[in-house]
Amino acid sequence: MAEIRRVGVLGCGLMGSGIAQVAATAGYDTIVRDVSKEFLDRGRAGIEKSLAKFVEKGKLPAADRDAALQRLTFTTAVADLQPVDIVIEAITEDLALKNALFKELDTLCGAGTVFASNTSSLTIAEMAAATKRADRFVGLHFFNPVPLMALVEVVRTVTTSEQTFKRAFAFAASLGKEPVAAKDNSGFIVNLLLVPYLLDAIRAVERGVGSVPDIDKAMVLGCGYPMGPLTLLDFVGLDTTHHIAEIMFKEYREPRYAPPPLLKRMVLAGMYGKKSGKGFYDYSANPPIVNNLGL
Ligand code: CAA
Ligand code: NAD
Repeated sequence: MAEIRRVGVLGCGLMGSGIAQVAATAGYDTIVRDVSKEFLDRGRAGIEKSLAKFVEKGKLPAADRDAALQRLTFTTAVADLQPVDIVIEAITEDLALKNALFKELDTLCGAGTVFASNTSSLTIAEMAAATKRADRFVGLHFFNPVPLMALVEVVRTVTTSEQTFKRAFAFAASLGKEPVAAKDNSGFIVNLLLVPYLLDAIRAVERGVGSVPDIDKAMVLGCGYPMGPLTLLDFVGLDTTHHIAEIMFKEYREPRYAPPPLLKRMVLAGMYGKKSGKGFYDYSANPPIVNNLGL
């Protein structure tokens, strides 16, 4: 079993930048690809800020931060991922986009390279089938914010070989994460349970059950959750949540996965949450204030 030394990450958004950060911090030479320099620069700035926080808090020696940054390369060229031992895909939640990239990389990367997707809701087998390495294909589902969240779901499809699954599981542990095994069901373990809860919180806003801050406050103080559901939705991204809901609803045909109308309208208006500056809250103010949704 070849050792994993070089890691390729596709996408340098919220998740890709976090995955690249933890891989580089764990000692892997890491190369990240996004479609433009602008996205790469934004991701790199996020990584630098996050590493600086760890140094500031005494959780990471400054020399280790510098070494991690040295191990990171940023590129817009897919071909630069040719020599990596594992590819972790973290691009927009869209099957056609993901499959096009996996197909291209399948012809570029060596037979020993493992392919992994960080998808929240798509079926891993559907991506594996787009390649000629379905036995070397897994799901590696990280959580946001990646540098702080301990869990990784390691997803085995009907075609994943035992050796690939073990390799991916050991790799997740080598990043300092706690891996769990999950089946290739849309949403795996966490999103199967979390997504209906988040969508119900939007339905509660639509019905006027409580105000946005009161719904958040109720779940933080009433259930001991670290964030209220509407803050968490802004944090995850409303565009990403809308993709996830569409995919899970198509898979399960159950109303609890259906995207609420308000979610669709907010996405159409460009309110993607924290990353675009506005969602259920308006992040141009510090601290953020409730966004006027005309409800
Ligand atoms: N890197 C490094 N340090 C960071 C950081 C980052 N990216 N973000 C925050 N920190 C630090 C902060 O500086 C802070 O340090 P101090 O205590 O010294 O100030 C510390 O971490 C804690 O941060 P905060 O005080 O801002 O906030 P917190 O105590 O509430 O913890 C949190 C932050 C871990 C994000 C917590 O709020 C939490 O667990 N929230 C829920 C997150 C969650 O549910 N994620 C899953 C989303 S769903 C998903 O990912 C799956 C999917 O497919 C959609
Ligand atoms: P994001 O919108 O923050 O970032 C997506 C990035 O992918 C963007 O920078 C975009 O330019 C880039 N991209 C699009 N097409 C590309 C391509 N062909 N090649 C390279 N880069 C490309 O999204 P995100 O939140 O980082 O989500 C990424 C993936 O991770 C999705 O599959 C999502 O479901 C999953 N995920 C998200 C979360 C979350 O909380 N946001 C948690 C776990 C998993």
